[in-house]
Amino acid sequence: MGATVLVGSQWGDEGKGKIVDLISEGFDIVVRYQGGANAGHTVEISDQKYVLHLIPSGILRENVICVIGNGVVIDPNALLEEIELLKKNDIDVEGRLFISQNAHLIMPYHKLLDSISESGSDKIGTTGKGIGPCYIDKYARKGIRIIDLLNRTELEKKIRTNIKEKNEILLKIHQQAGLDVDEIVKEYLEFDTAIDKYIKDVPTFLNQSLDEGKSILLEGAQGTFLDIDHGTYPFVTSSSPTSGGACTGSGIPPTRIDSVIGIVKAYTTRVGNGPFPTELLDEEGEKLRKIGVEFGATTGRPRRCGWFDAFLVSYSKMINGITSVALTKLDVLSGFEKINVCVGYELNGKRLKSFPTNVEQLNLVKPIYETLDGWNTDISKCERYEDLPAKTIKYLDFISQKSGIQIDIISVGPKRKQTFYVDQ
Ligand code: GDP
Ligand code: IMO
Ligand code: MG
Repeated sequence: MGATVLVGSQWGDEGKGKIVDLISEGFDIVVRYQGGANAGHTVEISDQKYVLHLIPSGILRENVICVIGNGVVIDPNALLEEIELLKKNDIDVEGRLFISQNAHLIMPYHKLLDSISESGSDKIGTTGKGIGPCYIDKYARKGIRIIDLLNRTELEKKIRTNIKEKNEILLKIHQQAGLDVDEIVKEYLEFDTAIDKYIKDVPTFLNQSLDEGKSILLEGAQGTFLDIDHGTYPFVTSSSPTSGGACTGSGIPPTRIDSVIGIVKAYTTRVGNGPFPTELLDEEGEKLRKIGVEFGATTGRPRRCGWFDAFLVSYSKMINGITSVALTKLDVLSGFEKINVCVGYELNGKRLKSFPTNVEQLNLVKPIYETLDGWNTDISKCERYEDLPAKTIKYLDFISQKSGIQIDIISVGPKRKQTFYVDQ
């Protein structure tokens, strides 16, 4: 058996955390492969609600090993806080959490530069967690990695060199006071004792685990249209949430990936700026936000809401090679008399043949809608596919057909229990 990748198929917040928690019962290892604490993955078990930012959502299953891969950017303070929070809830991560030695560290200057670049007029609407600036340093080959924590002399040298340069940028370009290098050196020199026990040669561990017949789930953060290459650039994050990123971000080769699960929300949301063709700026959008409690799990910002976009999801299927879909938040659509589904885009009066990720075009496209009947029934207590009203099943069949996806899991509420499998 090979590894399974789980990806967000839209603009993030599709309910990845909930589905990872649900299916990780059947996996030995869960791995995060990109992003950082910009992610907010919610898991609700009974009355307890957890929001995970850096640690894989499999951590709530006692027998699951969790791994943070090399593709992730780690804010050590955020990591230690999350470990502490789990401990307070009697979840001990020691011996169950491993971190790649090659993962990059988010430094205080990354967060500062993130906030400075967001203070101007062309904002991306980032989470402010320092993600972009950290990946900039990674690709500029100036990054500081987890492994560097173990060599104090070299670590200090690297921090001092980097801060010297950043302080010049802060002062000369942004007319801002520089950072206190001694304070940051002191802070970062202390992380080795707290983090040392989690550091691992992750690619070797994961490949050996596969050799031994263990099963691995790769948990994507963000979503397909926030991907640095395939998303709505420049309104994207700075990593590769799509399935291809799972290989480079973990050290598992493409030949060992068996399947790709796409998490698809039954409508569409987006946080931050950028094009969103099916966005609803009226009461219906407000209704989706209210019923769906669409507020960011990391920043608390209201999420922009809109109709399901089958054209967008079919592109996501292609880019990720999605083999199976978990459809979430279907319950939120209950109570809408009519439901629109976008089945294509028109640009300058012509129907587009393929999905444009070019933002100038995306800003101009007109969604082509087909309207379906809603169902006026509470479906949040449904336990089987057969329990769903006929009109709900019609909606599912319609969006599956228009997006070319196969829905295998349906989620009708935030709790573990509010989920069922579709017998094909
Ligand atoms: P993620 O980033 O993809 O893990 O998603 P988030 O946790 O940011 O956002 C999903 C939100 O929807 C969370 O508050 C979940 O508890 C909630 N949720 C997940 N699945 C369902 C569902 O089927 N129905 C409802 N009503 N809420 C859900
Ligand atoms: P999960 O994993 C939704 C968005 C931000 C912004 C853009 C860039 O919970 O689905 P960044 O801080 O990454 O530089 O911000 O990406 N964004 C997310 N939107 N869900 C997320 O994660 C997101 N992580 C980043 O709102 O538009
Ligand atoms: Mg989220």
